[in-house]
Amino acid sequence: MKDLFADRMSKIPRSFVREILKVTDDPDIISFAGGLPNPDSFPQKEIAESSSYVIKNSGAEALQYSTTEGYKPLRKVIAERYAADGLKVDVDNILITNGSQQGLDLVGKVFLNFEDTIMVEEPTYLAAIQSFGLYEPKFMSVPLLNDGVDMDMFQTMIENSKPKLFYSIPNFQNPTGISYSLKKRKLIGSILNKNDTVLVEDNPYGEIRFLGEKLPTINSFTENSILLGSFSKIVSPGIRLGWIVANDETMHHLVTAKQASDLHSNFFSQMIVHRYLTGYNVEEHLKKIQNMYKNQRDCMIQMIKRYFPEDVTYTEPEGGMFLWVTLPEGKSSMELFEKAIEDNVAFVPGEAFYLDNSQPNTLRLNFSNSNNAKIEEGIKRLGNAIKNL
Ligand SMILES: Cc1ncc(COP(=O)(O)O)c(C=O)c1O
Repeated sequence: MKDLFADRMSKIPRSFVREILKVTDDPDIISFAGGLPNPDSFPQKEIAESSSYVIKNSGAEALQYSTTEGYKPLRKVIAERYAADGLKVDVDNILITNGSQQGLDLVGKVFLNFEDTIMVEEPTYLAAIQSFGLYEPKFMSVPLLNDGVDMDMFQTMIENSKPKLFYSIPNFQNPTGISYSLKKRKLIGSILNKNDTVLVEDNPYGEIRFLGEKLPTINSFTENSILLGSFSKIVSPGIRLGWIVANDETMHHLVTAKQASDLHSNFFSQMIVHRYLTGYNVEEHLKKIQNMYKNQRDCMIQMIKRYFPEDVTYTEPEGGMFLWVTLPEGKSSMELFEKAIEDNVAFVPGEAFYLDNSQPNTLRLNFSNSNNAKIEEGIKRLGNAIKNL
């Protein structure tokens, strides 16, 4: 059968994170590897009540086939939440998807021909490389600095290589935890306005800001853009709901692509999430997640200060779920992984997030899925493993 599979399948790397998660299934391992939300943040009681409410009041509608675009009242709530942040979005320009991951796939399907160029951040979200990679584009990457991409390189690459898409995660980026400054958001918007590159702005962590001021989306500074959102980090990832915001022309193609892919997203869960968002105090729920993650992030940073050698540097994210560690030059986080796993602690080596120009001395730590006791013990073990490298 080997010869029958499409060529593109041999070009796609298996997700390294999924491979690591298999190792970390062992309950004795303290894992900072996955990107899982804290299960204590899931509104279980409210979702149970919302499910019963939907079945009692609109059971037949919830269990029937429905429209590709998604449940209109849910799209209306999404538009209202954007409006509260000063972003004008029409309900008809929102498409409900199976998480923002499907958004990435649909964008790839609608825009990417074989060997079209797509620009991504360096490092970037691994599953985006996989998702876009299935359409066999040419990737190019622009280095990420502490306040967003390197602007000189960004401008040169946009003007010289004219990529079709620029994929960016401006808030608490996965994997680095880095956020773009307001200045860079505006500058990127103005450069894109003068070129034909479309921004694909992925914002699953935007509402998990626990420090600093909320900043406008890059999308608000350019017409040339698509914005992706998700309920995974603010309600539940298992519910698999996200959305795409795009202009009329793009939406037309996205809807066709989604029809071909799955007709529509789970309608029952769309109605449940709508009931949850309108029947409960979601702002209070978000505060709870923000406080929880801030506490976990602070604990991780405190432990890094206590147990890591002084020449190890790290990002201090203002939100999200990850921080990014850089070991001294010449050290390998792959080697560190081997040592750390012997001591039952796991993380993702940075190499997994690069297309090329990989920095082997980097690694990603997730802080949202471990309690403070595990963070303390895990960082202590990791500190020892670094010292033994
Ligand atoms: C940057 C980024 N985009 C998209 C996703 C996919 O999220 P979902 O499909 O659950 O909305 C993730 C998940 O971790 C992510 O980190």
